[in-house]
Order: sequence, then structure tokens, then C-alpha cells
Amino acid sequence: MSEPGAESTLVLIKPDALKNSLTGYVLSTLSEFHTGLRFAALKVVQVSEMLAKEHYAEHQGKIFFPSLIEYITGRLHQVNPARRRVIAIVYQGIGAVAKVREVCGPTNPHEARERRPGSIRSLGTVVPLKDPSGKTIGERMDNLIHASATVEEGEREIKLWFTPNELPPGMRPYPSRRCETHYYFTDDRLHTEYVPGRHAILAPGAIAWESDLAALEAIAAGRPSAVSLRSVAAKYLVNL
Ligand code: RTP
Ligand code: MG
Repeated sequence: MSEPGAESTLVLIKPDALKNSLTGYVLSTLSEFHTGLRFAALKVVQVSEMLAKEHYAEHQGKIFFPSLIEYITGRLHQVNPARRRVIAIVYQGIGAVAKVREVCGPTNPHEARERRPGSIRSLGTVVPLKDPSGKTIGERMDNLIHASATVEEGEREIKLWFTPNELPPGMRPYPSRRCETHYYFTDDRLHTEYVPGRHAILAPGAIAWESDLAALEAIAAGRPSAVSLRSVAAKYLVNL
């Protein structure tokens, strides 16, 4: 378990930040010297459609949702699929959620430049969204960085992006346990037996989030689950 009273928050260094060589700037701005926070996990992810849609599920149906998915999967900023990456980081410490949001600044880069010059998002851009006739229907905010909005969102997002063994044992903020079953994911369904073409999610002996295992056990038994299968599976199906 992590330090008593500490919060955990997920940061994503988005594809526009990587493309513009701002990774080092973001990391040093969020360093322990400046924020008092420690990183507990860090990885490079080629964001799948499934992970993107689960991560931004709250925005499903909004006018900017399709462009948001194109943005976070890297398709807007990198033609070469191999270069479509996001850096995912877990930061921990007292007040971590609010501290990181403060350093990021407002969602809209125009507003960030006005209200919080010097914040990370003050370096972002806003791009108009047009319909096929060329009429402006909204805007896309290329704002360089994601940060969890609440402690609860932090938990959902960290479990969505990371497996427990990607965090050092003493820094895992949520309960985990050993899996006892084989789990596979194909065609949007859970399976417990291997047939060629099925993607392995978990095998006996692997450490998984307690809440993920509870969800898989319920889904395999045909019972309702508080957590969706996709939100459990997505992290095991990136960088394949
Ligand atoms: P994030 O989740 O990326 O950290 O951003 P946030 O909490 O500050 O803002 P949120 O409302 O969660 O929006 C997620 C991302 O969607 C894009 N967005 N566009 N056109 C719009 O009105 C609009 N609103 C949000 C931004 O890229 C934002 O980061
Ligand atoms: Mg958000």
C-alpha cells in the first residue's frame, strides 16, 4: 500500500506533447522537487481504440468525441502508426489530484493562456472541428496532458491503464490478488479456454487488481458486473 493519506493520480503525456518534444518539460514540471509528488509507474502506450473509448467514456456522444479518440490514439499527430504513443504515469502524494490539475491549468489552452499563463496547457492549441460542408461545429482542444479529475476517477483510470505489477509492491494504492483462472478476450467476449487467435488477458499465478478479478469472475459466471469487461481487458491488449 502507498503512503498513508496519499492520493494517486493518472497523467497522460498526450501525442501532441510527444510530437513537440515537450515530454522532458512536462516531467520536470511535475518532478518531486516542484510538486512533492513521486511517480509510482510509467510506461509508453500505443493507445488502442478500446482503451481510448474506455478512458474518455464520459464524453461518448459529444460532438468532439470522435476527434478526441483520434487525438488520444495519436492518429492526428502521427502518420506512422509506430510513432503513435502516449506516456502514462502514476503520481502519488498528499493532494496529488489537485496538485497535478493545478500544474496542468484549464482544459482549454486559450483559457489557460489567459487565466494561468505558465501552466502546461497554456502551451496547447485549439483546432476548429468542421462538418463535411466546412461549417464549424465545435472545437478540439490539443492540451498536451491529461490528469485525473478526482480521486475516484484516478482509481478508475489507473486500473484501466496499469496492471498491479507495473507499480512497485509498496506503491500499489488498491488491493490486488493472484488470479486462479485462464482468461482470454476475443470478439468482445470473455473466454476461459484457449483457442488459436484468442488474446490472453490473465493466467493462473498472475497478480491482478482485486476489482478486475471480481468483474471477470462475475462475467464468466454470467452475473452482472459493476466494471465492464472492456475496462478490464483494455490494458492487457495494448502494445501487442
Ligand atoms: P483530460 O480529461 O484530458 O485531463 O481533460 P479535462 O479533465 O480537463 O477535460 P474533460 O472535460 O475531461 O475533457 C477531456 C478532453 O476532451 C477535450 N475536450 N474538448 N470541445 C470541447 O468542448 C472539449 N471539451 C473537452 C479536451 O481535449 C479534454 O482534454
Ligand atoms: Mg477529464
